[in-house]
Amino acid sequence: MYAVPFDPQHLPRHVGIIMDGNGRWAKKNKLKIALGHRAGTEALRGIIRNSSDIGIQALSLYAFSTENWQRPKAEVDALMGLLLEFFQSEIDELNERNIRILILGEKDELPPEQRLALNRAEIRTFPNTGLRLNIAINYGGRAELTRAARRMAREAVDGLLLPEEINEAAVENHLYTAGMPDVDLLIRTSGEMRLSNFMLWQCAYAEFVFPQKLWPDFTLEDYHACIAQYQSRSRRWGGREAE
Ligand code: IPE
Ligand code: IPE
Ligand code: MG
Repeated sequence: MYAVPFDPQHLPRHVGIIMDGNGRWAKKNKLKIALGHRAGTEALRGIIRNSSDIGIQALSLYAFSTENWQRPKAEVDALMGLLLEFFQSEIDELNERNIRILILGEKDELPPEQRLALNRAEIRTFPNTGLRLNIAINYGGRAELTRAARRMAREAVDGLLLPEEINEAAVENHLYTAGMPDVDLLIRTSGEMRLSNFMLWQCAYAEFVFPQKLWPDFTLEDYHACIAQYQSRSRRWGGREAE
């Protein structure tokens, strides 16, 4: 039994998390920024495991945005190092848990070692049928939509797609998340209330929850409280609530 009750029958199918607050956490604890990011990775482990245990279909995590390259080089290097470490240390367990990994974002612009590790993780877990774990790295929602437009234009030029065939389903099929349900629940920690270019298309009808906690302090109880809050919302999709 979990400390915070939620209804296991009505889980969000797809949860998105903007893991924010590592910098403030480091500052609060008088630690170097890299240690804040490391602590953030620790929080991540529990959330991934639990999502798989309770039966969430898809979990999308914002790890590094297209805008995060603007940060000081030392911080970017630390983040890239942690990324590699995370994949090296977790991949066996994630695979054993039948989790399928997908990277959202442009891998080609990452350093070669990281690119290789990410590609390997995707290929190795491809046959898995459990939790769809999407990790957004060098990801931006606008870049994703621009890429979809470019890919459709290419297909049109090649005679594979007619302009009249470009509808919402076609756009969806050209996103990284093709075939996955939209984000039902979007969580952003640290009290910030913005999307920062995360899954713009997929969050069109997401329910947003903004816990105050900084990401490294975010616990399973906090996660379940977010799920419970999601379950208390009335989703109308522009229609009328059923009587
Ligand atoms: C989120 O934590 C992690 C990344 C962006 C990689 P931040 O580093 O943005 O933490 P704050 O917002 O400075 O506290
Ligand atoms: C968004 O957080 C990106 C990630 C959590 C990876 P940021 O901290 O980069 O976003 P802003 O700058 O506060 O909008
Ligand atoms: Mg931040």
